[in-house]
Amino acid sequence: MLILSFESSCDETAVAVVEMSEDIKKIRSSIVASQIEMHKVYGGVVPEIASRAHIEAISNLTINALSEAGVTLEEIDVIAVANRPGLIGALLVGVNFAKSLAYANKKPIVAVNHIMGHIAANYLIYPDLQPPFFAFVASGGHTSLINVKSYDKCETVGKTRDDAIGEAFDKVARVMGLTYPGGAAMDKLAGEGDKNAVKFPSAAITGDNLDFSFSGLKTAAVNYIHNQTQKGEEINKADIAASFTDTIVRSVIKKLELAHEKYGFKVFALAGGVAANSHLRKAVIEFGEKKNIRILIPPLSLCGDNAAMIGAAGYYQAKRGKFETLALNAYATGSVDGESF
Ligand code: KG4
Ligand code: ZN
Repeated sequence: MLILSFESSCDETAVAVVEMSEDIKKIRSSIVASQIEMHKVYGGVVPEIASRAHIEAISNLTINALSEAGVTLEEIDVIAVANRPGLIGALLVGVNFAKSLAYANKKPIVAVNHIMGHIAANYLIYPDLQPPFFAFVASGGHTSLINVKSYDKCETVGKTRDDAIGEAFDKVARVMGLTYPGGAAMDKLAGEGDKNAVKFPSAAITGDNLDFSFSGLKTAAVNYIHNQTQKGEEINKADIAASFTDTIVRSVIKKLELAHEKYGFKVFALAGGVAANSHLRKAVIEFGEKKNIRILIPPLSLCGDNAAMIGAAGYYQAKRGKFETLALNAYATGSVDGESF
């Protein structure tokens, strides 16, 4: 099955062609046009600018994705589009473009939950992957621990109660004057600092639950930086990045260990933009070795937002005949509970 897929939920316009079957999970092309430069000056994503930039980019990206894949629109079997959750104006661009293409070319269309897309990135790299498995989706907008029980049953067993993990990285990076978005810069800097230099509060909520809170940790780091600066003391950015990152990593591992105690999963997949974090990747691999769990981590190109992951998730929708009509809409919210692969 050849799938043309679209992702426009935030600040990346992405189009891909993936070839999917029982045995083949192949990315034929995957183009991501980042809007980072446009939002940099504001220190965060400006939704109106994001929507406009998606409109300007999406047609040409589609032409390029098809040509890189070496296929024509006629050869495409299914169109897949991320329609939830995300910035509503941004999502609507992808949804309307995909619907127009489907209508004009008489192609079936499937709708994909963006979070399910992040998880599905793993199917592209590990074609033998099958539920049941556990997944941790860590991105700029989401932090969820998900029990993928079967192809048609996903359950969120833990999540953030306030800020997303990536949001916390980005905020602290911004206060330290690092380049936007700060996650990658924090990652690099953390490798150069002392992780025991500053004590920050854990993001793992105490008690018998699998939830996180990144807001207190984020505020503690921001306050620490402001206090040091006000006292006229030089801040050691690398030490802050290292201590902050280590606190996040330890918080995540703590909840993964608890989840493993409760559910005893054998396969664990990392997903989302923050899955690119080298310190988190290392800790998750160690966690897997210690508990004898198969660890799946996508390459960096499939951690951040991309359309190949939307195509991969869309394949499972198409396979079970879950096609949409032209009444398909976009939604700002949407959990994975009740979703299927
Ligand atoms: O999945 P994604 O591209 O978009 C959302 O769905 O939100 O994730 C983007 C997030 C940003 O917060 C970015 O700073 C973070 O992923 N990120 C990282 C790293 N690379 C990207 N965070 C920590 N370490 C990294 N290496
Ligand atoms: Zn994402």
